[in-house]
Amino acid sequence: MTVHFIGAGPGAPDLITLRGRDLLAASPVCLYAGSLVHEAVLAHCGPGARIVNTAPMSLEEIEAEYVRAFEAGEDVARLHSGDLSVWSAMGEQIRILEARGIPYTVTPGVPAFAASAAVLGRELTLPEVGQSLILTRTTGRASKMPEGETLEAFAATGATLALHLSIHVVEDVAARLTPFYGADCPAAVVFRASWPDETVLTGTLGTIADQVREANIDRTALILVGPVLGSADFRASALYDADYQRRFRGRGN
Ligand SMILES: C[S@@+](CC[C@H](N)C(=O)[O-])C[C@H]1O[C@@H](n2cnc3c(N)ncnc32)[C@H](O)[C@@H]1O
Repeated sequence: MTVHFIGAGPGAPDLITLRGRDLLAASPVCLYAGSLVHEAVLAHCGPGARIVNTAPMSLEEIEAEYVRAFEAGEDVARLHSGDLSVWSAMGEQIRILEARGIPYTVTPGVPAFAASAAVLGRELTLPEVGQSLILTRTTGRASKMPEGETLEAFAATGATLALHLSIHVVEDVAARLTPFYGADCPAAVVFRASWPDETVLTGTLGTIADQVREANIDRTALILVGPVLGSADFRASALYDADYQRRFRGRGN
């Protein structure tokens, strides 16, 4: 028996990996985080699978599901939205499984920031405009930010920002970032990337909060900020430069 943690992707059922889909189909039990995993993804579960929405459950109740499946010798597919490496709550579940000696695997998924960039049709790193992407959030009810991980500290780098779990405080976010990036800096909000009701707002730090309020978006949205979102004026990557190809191709650079 194994617990398979699977990144469900941003929502659309065809944005899960083939490995994730196959594990889902083969597992007699599926636990899914119902607040963010789109139900369409559950169509990949095998017939007769026991499907449990963990959104209303405590960690102890989820642990009881793992123990029940372990004693029954049944594999569990554990679905979390996007990828498991960020804000998935996988860490605390792995700690429990390791303490109990229950085996597990981890299968990555398409994270919300990548799905949102795809919806926007934008690359989040451009030569000489932006070469770093910061995935972060603001303080929430459940988690305080560690000291030093402030919006101001990240903004001081000028890097592209992907702000999760923060759409409800977009006004405060825009106000705090404006002194660093300027009111004209491009900003975008993607609500439920790849869901049927996906919504995309593009504007600037000066306009984005009003746009969000008008669109009535207050959850499951990513805020992206940075010059890369607006720039058409950037040097092409050296990778496909003819001279670069002649000199470095085949050397593993
Ligand atoms: C608990 S975190 C989960 C992040 C996820 N593990 C990932 O890899 O993207 C939830 C936040 O991710 C973002 N998010 C998740 N799914 C999204 C989607 N389909 N479209 C836009 N943002 C999404 C939102 O900022 C939301 O508040």
